[in-house]
Amino acid sequence: MGPSGSGKTTLLTLIGGLLRPTSGIVRVNGLEITSLKERQLTKFRRHYLGFIFQSFNLLESLNARENVEAALNFAGVGGRRARKRATALLTDLGMADRLRARPRTLSGGERQRVSIARALANDPQLILADEPTANLDSRHGHEVVELLHDITRQQQRTIIIVSHDHRIRDVADRVLWLQDGRFEGFDEGDTQQSALLDTARILYGASPDAVPPRAAASQPIAPEAMAPPPPPAPAAKRGGWLPWRRA
Ligand SMILES: Nc1ncnc2c1ncn2[C@@H]1O[C@H](COP(=O)(O)OP(=O)(O)OP(=O)(O)O)[C@@H](O)[C@H]1O
Ligand SMILES: [Mg+2]
Repeated sequence: MGPSGSGKTTLLTLIGGLLRPTSGIVRVNGLEITSLKERQLTKFRRHYLGFIFQSFNLLESLNARENVEAALNFAGVGGRRARKRATALLTDLGMADRLRARPRTLSGGERQRVSIARALANDPQLILADEPTANLDSRHGHEVVELLHDITRQQQRTIIIVSHDHRIRDVADRVLWLQDGRFEGFDEGDTQQSALLDTARILYGASPDAVPPRAAASQPIAPEAMAPPPPPAPAAKRGGWLPWRRA
């Protein structure tokens, strides 16, 4: 999370190997992707990563299933195998009766489900999502948040989400804050709890310990709650936090 222009999309595209840094190195789960050649980088993206975009980026000339199949085809899975997998993924995401629908005939939430299925197609370890709920109304946004949450829990995947959406902050295991291209700090631990406590602090001006979480939970979330909390102690001093488990 972070204000507009703070570098969130830039960070995701660096992690995704879509952008090369002018200096420094990028290491993803121990793999130094900045030293990979273009072809290796393409392979890394195909097999290790899934992307979810704010504007869905579906191919209009293909139907829902074909959009998912295309991702599989690029990774070398073709024919009936690809069709079967695309069907299974879309069915899991509640899209069984919309397999042949063109993107323009789908609702925003459905389109985003197709793009989530596409992101999952090649069984990536890491999914990068840039504002995945920003173009959705609140009901569909809520569905997508729940889906992403279930995917991480049930399938043991990691999803990095850039978002201004409070619901995502509430389900995230860890919230990192960016400001002016710099990593500013993070919330960790029971984030649901910590987000509630931050909200309580903003609503009541109370110290977290003084406000029972239940009281905070019954209050609507104020827009001000989007503001970054005061910078926490540096990661090293809080012990044990590593952005990536090193290989
Ligand atoms: N390829 C690029 N080369 C140089 N500067 C860039 C490039 N892409 C973005 N920027 C600049 O880097 C800064 C961060 O941009 P970025 O798109 O990462 O912000 P953001 O946090 O995603 O913002 P938003 O919430 O509006 O999407 C901005 O000042 C932007 O103008
Ligand atoms: Mg952005």
